[in-house]
Amino acid sequence: MEQKIIILDFGSQTTQLIGRRVRELDTFCEILPYNKFPKDDPSVIGVILSGSPYSVHDPEAFKVDLGDFMGRLPVLGICYGAQFMSHTLGGKVEKADSREYGRAHLETVDTSNPLFKGFEQNSQVWMSHGDTITAIPDGFECIASTRDVKYAGYTNGKDVWAVQFHPEVFHSVQGSLLLKNFVVDICGSKQAWSAASFVDTTVAELKEQVGDDRVILGLSGGVDSSVAAVLLNRAIGKNLTCIFVDHGMLRKNEFRDVMHDYECLGLNVIGVDASEKFFADLAGVTDPEQKRKIIGRDFVEVFNAEAKKITGAKWLAQGTIYPDRIESLNITGKVIKSHHNVGGLPKEMHLQLCEPLKWLFKDEVRRVGRQLGMPEHLITRHPFPGPGLAVRILGDITPEKVRILQDADDIYIRGLRDYKVRLSGEEARKVLAAGVPATMTDGEIEVSLYDQIWQAGTVLLSTVRSVGVMGDERTYEHPVALRAVTSTDAMTADWAHLPYDFMAKVSNEIINKVKGVNRVCYDISSKPPSTIEWE
Ligand code: XMP
Repeated sequence: MEQKIIILDFGSQTTQLIGRRVRELDTFCEILPYNKFPKDDPSVIGVILSGSPYSVHDPEAFKVDLGDFMGRLPVLGICYGAQFMSHTLGGKVEKADSREYGRAHLETVDTSNPLFKGFEQNSQVWMSHGDTITAIPDGFECIASTRDVKYAGYTNGKDVWAVQFHPEVFHSVQGSLLLKNFVVDICGSKQAWSAASFVDTTVAELKEQVGDDRVILGLSGGVDSSVAAVLLNRAIGKNLTCIFVDHGMLRKNEFRDVMHDYECLGLNVIGVDASEKFFADLAGVTDPEQKRKIIGRDFVEVFNAEAKKITGAKWLAQGTIYPDRIESLNITGKVIKSHHNVGGLPKEMHLQLCEPLKWLFKDEVRRVGRQLGMPEHLITRHPFPGPGLAVRILGDITPEKVRILQDADDIYIRGLRDYKVRLSGEEARKVLAAGVPATMTDGEIEVSLYDQIWQAGTVLLSTVRSVGVMGDERTYEHPVALRAVTSTDAMTADWAHLPYDFMAKVSNEIINKVKGVNRVCYDISSKPPSTIEWE
């Protein structure tokens, strides 16, 4: 890794977003807890201090020793990062008269300063803080102000910059430009981080790491494990054995179709149909957590039994991606999301862990998949929960209920893929920036509803029955709920505003074609307070 930016996380909700923006500048970055700065890493070219839910005056506020990097590397403080530096270096931070939240405009901005190069006067920025800087430290100058925030930006004119607004959020219109000015012009990033360079370096590293050893990888049909497999296949070929377990709760025809895709990709895959075991162990179980536990346990059992047959395997590869590993801090400083472990693999196998995608965000995994020439439908596939349709059937699970849900879901998902929408302006730009393959003509692009949303699925409300009428017959059957959400990381999500004509068509088709369903509802809950899955 030649060059990297370190983002120190003080617990802000938008820290990950800073990381994504830096990566969009083809620059590698690492998000680390505020107190874990890697002092001896020569590849670090700059440091960004994130926001925080704390006030600098809180006794438990996160503190960092600025001497670890200040004076050696360019530093950019954002929001709390700006206040912390001011507070620590002799400026003043006080409670704002009113909480400064939302849109503001840079009424004065020093565009001769490299941080604000190319900025327009009155550029819109996004504020979110309860404290405000009322005096900057000696030797620093103010370089941007809004109507209410005098010190919206300040610098020492050398190697320290700070802004009280959030350049990483979408509503800071020139925020990406500010980050580019910092990362590229100030820190000197060569912008060499790309899908192609990632593939080249990772394949070489994997060859080095794994050598002639055999590797086992669990495939799920999802984009992360599939891309990890193709990457490893390129590095070590037939020494990679993949295991794909069918627990019977995949989407309609998914096992067959995905196995076919994997074979076309030249992967060495063992497909295991273990659905009977899962159905037997789940029979009569209605509690959501219980269902998850049984599926998790059975999965490990089936996977291990297969893995043990692969003699001489030394490595277990996983499609872990960066958001799975970032130690996000919550307000108490406790780690709320940590690296998931390889639960339950038999110790006697002595497998070492190999995670080739561990530095990537989801959209980057997709870019790498495209670089590797994988088919688009595998790359753009929505996330799907490990326990599958089991957490989308309320109440107990039977093969018949799974069949009903698969049929309804298949109509919904095919409908989403077939329905095309035309986008322009910022909406089109966002879709293209996410790497969705669409060409722009006359400022417009055409994409499917499926590619516009993060995730969609169907839920069978099998504990509910309602009355309907079909032909002359009274029906008394189950409803299904359709779910579609927009999101960037599944931590928060909003329900997708699907067009009415699409909903009408899909609802009609489901009720007419899927025996056992006589009503269709649309789930309009956001996360939080709801979750994406129903169970
Ligand atoms: P929730 O329902 O917590 O889901 O809002 C967030 C994201 O995680 C997926 N999900 C899972 N993925 N194993 C997985 O691999 C699981 O047990 C699991 N449960 C939820 C969910 O589909 C969504 O993308």
